[in-house]
Amino acid sequence: MRIVSGIQPTGNLHLGNYLGAIRNWVAMQNDAAASGGECFFFLADLHAISMPHDPAALSANTREMTAALVACGVDPDKSTLFNQTQVPAHAELQWLLNGTARMGWLSRMTQFKDKAGKNRDSVSVALYTYPVLQAADVLLYQATHVPVGEDQKQHLELARDIAQKFNNDFCPEDKPLFVQPAPIIPPEAARIMSLRDGSNKMSKSDPSDMSRINLTDDADTIMSKVKKAKTDPEPLPSEIEGLEGRPEARNLVGIYAVMAGVSQAQVLADFGGKGFGAFKPALGELLVEKLSPINARFNDLRHDRDALDAILRKGAQKARAAAAPTLAAAYDALGLLRG
Ligand code: TYM
Repeated sequence: MRIVSGIQPTGNLHLGNYLGAIRNWVAMQNDAAASGGECFFFLADLHAISMPHDPAALSANTREMTAALVACGVDPDKSTLFNQTQVPAHAELQWLLNGTARMGWLSRMTQFKDKAGKNRDSVSVALYTYPVLQAADVLLYQATHVPVGEDQKQHLELARDIAQKFNNDFCPEDKPLFVQPAPIIPPEAARIMSLRDGSNKMSKSDPSDMSRINLTDDADTIMSKVKKAKTDPEPLPSEIEGLEGRPEARNLVGIYAVMAGVSQAQVLADFGGKGFGAFKPALGELLVEKLSPINARFNDLRHDRDALDAILRKGAQKARAAAAPTLAAAYDALGLLRG
């Protein structure tokens, strides 16, 4: 089992990232250690330059996000934790796969359509070819499993299509080069929504910091964000069906359930008939209780630049070695003369 996943080092790690992906990274890392599987987790800094960005902030965020991942439980001794830029094979394989990916496939990517909006002619070429880099990220390591939130499912399907077409076009039938990776999406936290608008996902790029809980937020900030979260005036229902048409209530109940490790039905059995005046403080306290150890570890690590750089250096060394055979085989399959 090869487990590979990445996160863009833009902004802070938030509750959506944590519940949708990082929690699974840690669980899979611990299972893999017991079963002989291998995990590769990386900061997708090359992806981050597809949108306008501040270079000084990007390198600082790359270190901060590394500290946040370690604080969440990603263990650099169990998993290979690295920064994408330090493994040039990602960018190299992307170029090779650009010959296989089709314009029509990329034009259908909903994330591109959302991010580009009506300004298609003025967004970067990188935003368009971003999913090909993402395919390279996972195919390079022969990933079998890719733990992600729901919003990355379409990109993973594209990676599978690229793998299949490359194998068909350039490999003997009995010797395909690329493995088709399977997305691993947590059913109960696949899509955590914004605290300000239950129809938008919680996101690093939302201009309002009140829309998300950052894993770096202190207790007062968490309590105040939950208190100010958008809700409706009705009390909570006693049955799941009563959440229909109430996206903000559904989101908060969903967050409570995964954080407490209970079913949504149980949350409603406990809070049904009560108003948000009672539910929100309980949710805030639960979040503070679960997130404060992560927050404390993050604050210990975040300023230790040498230790963070050493983690990334060691991870990159391991990742470069793991990536080399597949990259070499891809060059050979395409007939590119390396000497
Ligand atoms: P990114 O940086 O936007 O998000 C990192 C991970 O968090 C998940 N996620 C969420 N899950 C549930 N609810 C939310 N509101 C929410 N917001 C984010 C994402 O699904 C993701 O798993 N393109 C990727 C990074 C990437 C990658 C890869 C992932 C680059 N190469 C290869 C997997 C494999 C991205 O921008 O994720």
